[in-house]
Amino acid sequence: LGRVIAICNQKGGVAKSTSTYNLGAALHERKQRVLLVDLDPQGSLTLCCGFEPDSLPKTIYNALLKRTPVEEVLLKTNFGCDLIPANVDLSIAEMDLVHAMNRERRVAGLLAGLRDQYDFILIDCQPSLGLITTNALAAADEILVPVACEYLALRGVLVLLKMYGKVRLRLNSKLKITGFLPTMFDTRTMHSRRVLEELHQRFGSKYRIFDCVINRSVRFAEASAAGQPIFNYAKGVPGAEAYRRLAQEILRDP
Ligand SMILES: Nc1ncnc2c1ncn2[C@@H]1O[C@H](COP(=O)(O)OP(=O)(O)OP(=O)(O)O)[C@@H](O)[C@H]1O
Ligand SMILES: [Mg+2]
Repeated sequence: LGRVIAICNQKGGVAKSTSTYNLGAALHERKQRVLLVDLDPQGSLTLCCGFEPDSLPKTIYNALLKRTPVEEVLLKTNFGCDLIPANVDLSIAEMDLVHAMNRERRVAGLLAGLRDQYDFILIDCQPSLGLITTNALAAADEILVPVACEYLALRGVLVLLKMYGKVRLRLNSKLKITGFLPTMFDTRTMHSRRVLEELHQRFGSKYRIFDCVINRSVRFAEASAAGQPIFNYAKGVPGAEAYRRLAQEILRDP
């Protein structure tokens, strides 16, 4: 059965979507069958995969709330991963679900039928801890937390850990944290270095912090705009290999 990993941090702009598709592409290179799930009405992951979210007739919204078979929603990316896309319709789902039965387990139900077809299912969460994100955490085995090496980043980690504790108590006692992934690391500043050190000091004894650090580079945005993984788009550029190393770390030591 595949590992379901939620890429989650309620803080915005920490590279959740970027990490989801690049890690997915790197895992696919290592012969893994990968499904990417966009669980953000912004549709960033869908865009990174080369699709225009608002032109898609059917998205995860239809599969979650309109009983559309998931095969009708599924797309194939040109870097080997499958994708369940999202667009702004997903924000309606958040409202529709409030009064629904089993409202926190809809995504889990959707993925249950897919788990045996993939080695990895990566869920890109939106920057909030509402009902849709709760659904992601109820469906996941693991959380991977991208943390930007920036001011205030660590406060966000505390908020996320609180949510993690609640979900484990109420919804998903098996949920664990795969690790923290330092992102947006600026090699030129002391500040980035300090935040990384503090991340290790405060959380390193209890949680895994990946050795792999993702440097800040405009190339990531360019690669996303081109719908390509960074290691294909910016071959030879320092840092472009980082998500391959992350994939290795995750495969080597689950
Ligand atoms: N390593 C990086 N260096 C520089 N820019 C990056 C890096 N990774 C991602 N970005 C850019 O930063 C922006 C935010 O990244 P991304 O969308 O992946 O973050 P996110 O956490 O998913 O955001 P949101 O919270 O809005 O969902 C994007 O423009 C992206 O291209
Ligand atoms: Mg995102």
